[in-house]
Amino acid sequence: MRFPDSFLDDIRDRLPISEVIGKRVTFDKKKTNAARGDYWACCPFHGEKTPSFHCEDRKGRYYCFGCGVSGDHFRFLTELDGLNFPEAVERLADQAGLPMPVMDERQREREEKRATLFDAMEMATAFFEQMLQSAEGAPARAYLRERGLSAETQKTFRIGFAPDSRNALKEHLSAKGIKGEQIEACGLVVHGEGIAVSYDRFRNRIMFPIPDARERVIAFGGRALSSDVPAKYLNSPETELFHKSNVLYNFARARRVVHERGQVIACEGYMDVLALNAAGFPNAVAPLGTALTERQMLLLWRLHGEPVLCFDGDEAGLKAAYRAIDTLLPGLEPGRSARFALLPDGLDPDDLIRQEGSEAMGEVLGNAVPLAEMIWNRETASSLFDTPERKAMLEKRIRQVIGTIGDAGVRRHYEQDMTDRLAVYFGASQERQAGRARGARRDGSKAGFRGGVFQQREGGRGSVSASPALLSTGIFKKGRSHVPLREAALVMGACNHPALIEAFFEEFVSLPLTAQSAEGLRQWLVDLHAECAGTGKAMTYEAIGGRLETSAHAETARQMEMQLTQNRIWQFRPDAAFEDALDGWRQAYSLHMRARSLRNELKAAEVAFSTDDSEENQERLNSIRAEIEREEGTEALIDGFGAPSGRPMRAL
Ligand code: UTP
Ligand code: MN
Repeated sequence: MRFPDSFLDDIRDRLPISEVIGKRVTFDKKKTNAARGDYWACCPFHGEKTPSFHCEDRKGRYYCFGCGVSGDHFRFLTELDGLNFPEAVERLADQAGLPMPVMDERQREREEKRATLFDAMEMATAFFEQMLQSAEGAPARAYLRERGLSAETQKTFRIGFAPDSRNALKEHLSAKGIKGEQIEACGLVVHGEGIAVSYDRFRNRIMFPIPDARERVIAFGGRALSSDVPAKYLNSPETELFHKSNVLYNFARARRVVHERGQVIACEGYMDVLALNAAGFPNAVAPLGTALTERQMLLLWRLHGEPVLCFDGDEAGLKAAYRAIDTLLPGLEPGRSARFALLPDGLDPDDLIRQEGSEAMGEVLGNAVPLAEMIWNRETASSLFDTPERKAMLEKRIRQVIGTIGDAGVRRHYEQDMTDRLAVYFGASQERQAGRARGARRDGSKAGFRGGVFQQREGGRGSVSASPALLSTGIFKKGRSHVPLREAALVMGACNHPALIEAFFEEFVSLPLTAQSAEGLRQWLVDLHAECAGTGKAMTYEAIGGRLETSAHAETARQMEMQLTQNRIWQFRPDAAFEDALDGWRQAYSLHMRARSLRNELKAAEVAFSTDDSEENQERLNSIRAEIEREEGTEALIDGFGAPSGRPMRAL
């Protein structure tokens, strides 16, 4: 409903803003001047030790000099507690001792009817809970135990059981005075034309009550106990209370913890929300059996500017992730985006947590890739861009996708971002041309431009490649040797394709390496190169091979070679076409240098900030951090690069 401005003003007049804020913060005694209505506190929106959060009763506004948040009474509650506007009004009207504005007769009738429906839903919830504990509920309890749902989780989420009966619920509700038509309006029975007697919709199912933003039950999801039932999950139909596309499971509970967590997670199913909650992620929500809708995206954005969208690690999950891109692009705004977390190995969060624990889940969430990265992946994942026409096609596709971004400012930045990516991507093919001109080609193979190192070599058009997010998850990183993969790739590339040393001599000689063993092998290669140049002989792979075997670096080389094999980095294998090695080396090098310089900049900025915490230094630090975050997706790519080339997605 819309509130008259006069009513909102009444609230502001009656209720000093310091009273609203004072409920949530402790004012700083020294800085505060209560007599003047001038209050200071440590900002509840960002962590700090010295108070820079200010509110003034006369103006009825607050402002934080640290993080820049500002607003009035209502804004304070919508931002800090994630309430929606009417909820904030209701709470503040109550605090101010003002009655809510009266509704007209029709509105009142509707509200009353809704109230009865809420009552009926609440009774049904209690009934299902009770049935779960009854003798009839034994198999359901056994099922829940087997799935690892603790009693505590069951209680928190009010899990219940619908007995295998056509009228148990109906009779229960009737006995409590709920009319038949109300039971129907709640969607609790199947009724309508051709059905003489309505009957319970949910039978022999585990019941998940679906609460609304105010934690009133508005619908149910029912899970079958066995797999031989047509629908694994059965949801309530649309009712006056329940509009599926506008509801997220666990929204209200998640909202309470989102601010303190600084994150909200959207996953795919009820069970995932429950498992995440038990694993220490109470900030998870899920849509109800459909792809995320635009309205649900808006709900997510009300909770957090950058929700992490978490998708099952199967083909359907990846498709859903790709589809989500289109849903959220029109709604993007400055400060509103999303990250994507893809689970490994065909698992969903529930599976992953059970198999690998909550740390693995945390790692997957931590490795979520930014939206821009995801768009890029989607557009480049399954095709070859080996002709000018196809490259133009890629450009056109990307332009179309970006064109759907509603906000002009955000759109412009995306255009720039994609232009940069395309330049790097296509730049690799120019380098190859240059290599050919220098006569550096070693074999006569006609390998086409494969859209760079990230592309699948086998695996045809339309097939889905393992995502970089997936490859960058902790699971895949486990067991990685201490030479960072990219360093191993750069050194082994040169070892297997010595002409690379010729082509990138300066780069190779000064290549910053962190691993000593890689450093040693690089030096050995450089020396050998000098020796060959001195005698006028070309340095060949065969010649290196023989000498390497007997050198001190044989073991290092063997290990790094294995690393490349394990990660399916085929470009640098001795039998790969030289032009592929060239492409790969160039890209890996440029990412390596970029990541390094960002790390250095970060270090410098941190030092600067620790000696002088000026606003300017803070800003600089923030902008580098943001940049690194942005780059991380790219880094992940190169970390796992080549992996999409050969690795088919497992367990589709
Ligand atoms: P999933 O098939 O991924 O199931 O459906 P799940 O969440 O892993 O459930 P478990 O672990 O097998 O119990 C994801 C979501 O899609 C909806 C449900 O909301 C489910 O949580 N869904 C699924 C349906 O609405 N109907 C179905 O038949 C299947
Ligand atoms: Mn599951």
